[in-house]
Amino acid sequence: MKTVGVAILGLGVVGSGTYKILRDHREFYKQTQGVDLSVECVLEINKQKALDLGIEESKVSDNIAEIVSNPNVDIVVEVIGGVEPARSFVLAALHSGKSVVTSNKELFCKHWHELERAAKRTNAGLFFEASCVGGVPIIRTLIDGMQANVITNLTGIINGTTNYILTRMAREGSNYADILKDAQALGYAEANPAADVEGYDATYKLSILSSLAFHTKVPLDKIYREGIADLKTCDIAYGNELGYTLKLLAIGKNGKDGIEVRVHPAFIRKDHPLASVNDSFNAVYLKGDSVGDIMLYGRGAGDLPTGSAIVSDVIYAATHNDVKYATFKNTQQAEKGVKFITDFRSRYFIRFTAKDKAGVLAKVAGIFAKYNISIIDLIQKGEDCENIPIILITHETSEFSVRRALEKIGELEDVVSVDSMIRVEG
Ligand code: HSE
Repeated sequence: MKTVGVAILGLGVVGSGTYKILRDHREFYKQTQGVDLSVECVLEINKQKALDLGIEESKVSDNIAEIVSNPNVDIVVEVIGGVEPARSFVLAALHSGKSVVTSNKELFCKHWHELERAAKRTNAGLFFEASCVGGVPIIRTLIDGMQANVITNLTGIINGTTNYILTRMAREGSNYADILKDAQALGYAEANPAADVEGYDATYKLSILSSLAFHTKVPLDKIYREGIADLKTCDIAYGNELGYTLKLLAIGKNGKDGIEVRVHPAFIRKDHPLASVNDSFNAVYLKGDSVGDIMLYGRGAGDLPTGSAIVSDVIYAATHNDVKYATFKNTQQAEKGVKFITDFRSRYFIRFTAKDKAGVLAKVAGIFAKYNISIIDLIQKGEDCENIPIILITHETSEFSVRRALEKIGELEDVVSVDSMIRVEG
């Protein structure tokens, strides 16, 4: 039986999970895959971590050169995270002709073109299933399962931390700051939560997923981004009354006018399949011209779920001789001639506070009419107060028109403040 040597760079949460899966399933893979996957070495400064997992001391190294020159290593698994030193280590492995499996979305979305060029030079494999949506096999679905289709829409809940926070805000009616603190204490959010709550993590993943879905490079700088830190619990409750659930969505659309890619909080109808994706779960909803709608759902993070995605790539690399690279021209920037839409269209949930007097709504409606924005639903809250919140939902309209209209509404004498503008999808 063929033995394939694996090196794991980094024994953090994902590296340890990957090691455990490879260790505990070694016999199973021999039987089911016809290949013996042997962890030959690990790169880890903290030797004790490796010893605790039962890895022999002789297999632990703190020197990448030693690992990439080891003739027994065929596949290098990079689970360090961040751009450097991961980028240099991955390039060193590819230069040595080793196939690379990575879970590193930031590295991959920023340097995919560079890594792929290096891989092509030595005919090495480059696999990244674990970079997006953890254990959910979305990359393989896009690369293989959906290739028959023109994909027009990819909408996902692809960040578990923010989904956990929003689910609890909705369930408990507590505010963002309190839930975040609790999520940090429970290990659902990092001590520095910026990458998740400001939407960066989701934009990294959307860049990779939409590039694959739309067969062209979708660089980070084309993705509109808004996080969840400014969301107010009362808006979740108002949305709920109107039949909506609030999620941080990653949205990619590909139509005749171009591509639009954005990450922001959005209301979706409660009967939309994504509305029931709760807690730290992730899901991706795809629309293909032949298959119609499909949805993949599962754990987007964690040692074993992410390890599952990594090991499936390791198995693929160990059992396939043909190497497959991106089906599109893998460039650093967007390809010339590909149009990205910035003035996208959506429906909008708007909340503003106004003086409770006759004629205010007429003035607001007048401004909406001037910008050709039509209102579907309107609720006015509070009685016998000087200032009252007014909530409305618009028909589909352009982003720029709504922003301009809200600026004008904010200038009205009887409008105290424009408080929220949340897009409504689906
Ligand atoms: N921080 C990420 C999330 C984990 O919350 O989904 C995997 O990218």
